[in-house]
Amino acid sequence: MNRFEGSKVLLTGAGSGIGRATALRLVSEGAAVLAVDRSPEGLAETVRAAAGPGRITPHVADVADERSVVAAVDAAAAELGGLDVLVNVAGIHRTTPIADLTVDDLRRLFDVNLVGTALFCREALRHLPDGTGVIVNVASSAAAHGNPYMTAYSASKGAVLGFTLSLAAEVVGRGIRAVAVSPGSVATPLTASGVLPPGLDRSYYARIAPPFGAAAPERIAGTIAYAASSDAGHLTGVDLRVDGGAHI
Ligand SMILES: NC(=O)c1ccc[n+]([C@@H]2O[C@H](COP(=O)([O-])OP(=O)(O)OC[C@H]3O[C@@H](n4cnc5c(N)ncnc54)[C@H](O)[C@@H]3O)[C@@H](O)[C@H]2O)c1
Repeated sequence: MNRFEGSKVLLTGAGSGIGRATALRLVSEGAAVLAVDRSPEGLAETVRAAAGPGRITPHVADVADERSVVAAVDAAAAELGGLDVLVNVAGIHRTTPIADLTVDDLRRLFDVNLVGTALFCREALRHLPDGTGVIVNVASSAAAHGNPYMTAYSASKGAVLGFTLSLAAEVVGRGIRAVAVSPGSVATPLTASGVLPPGLDRSYYARIAPPFGAAAPERIAGTIAYAASSDAGHLTGVDLRVDGGAHI
């Protein structure tokens, strides 16, 4: 399939996990991708792994920094010659019992997960074409389902979901689509960093273990690619929950 032949894509979080798998998938389907991450090493690995017919250009930036976001979107428009698709994948995770929650943790989660996503949307919308432009924002099944020790993370992802649905309503008149993709458990470095501290009650997690197991990042990349493609041309203002049956 070459669904993204001629398509210009700005993708954040491309240095690891779901973002890397999405970059590889889009390039394999013909997209020209400007790949953003704060990790130059992660981006270099993604560029090494990418195989055409599309192409990929790395761009190091912190999505939580407004000036870096403006520069990244300008770089994408200049390097690619415009912009057709924005995919916001960059995100961070924290696992913290409520008693230990700090203001710094809350602010950092919201800065990266919500503010980063929102700023990229604002800036990209100056370039996305009426009629065909697409935004895909990665939220989480934690946006809509309770998860102990994830209050701040879940709140930040709930904010991403709400932002995306309202954005879809605001830009529908331009013919631009905005879709949220909400993974459940995915096997990436982020999940490994979310291991519960010893002594906490794990029984809840046994109840929501996905019947299909944790997803490979390529599974989520496939859903993101679908949402960004013309195959999903009638899809906007929705949340695509991809959780392997965890919440049936
Ligand atoms: N892994 C899961 O189980 C899971 C489940 C639901 C949602 N998600 C979401 O999917 C997205 C990707 O997660 P992943 O599992 O691939 O994680 P990951 O840690 O493998 O990748 C996240 C990437 O984002 C980048 N990043 C983080 N903060 C950044 C910043 N300030 N500026 C630029 N880049 C930054 C990291 O460098 C990394 O390359 C995140 O938004 C995450 O919340 C993941």
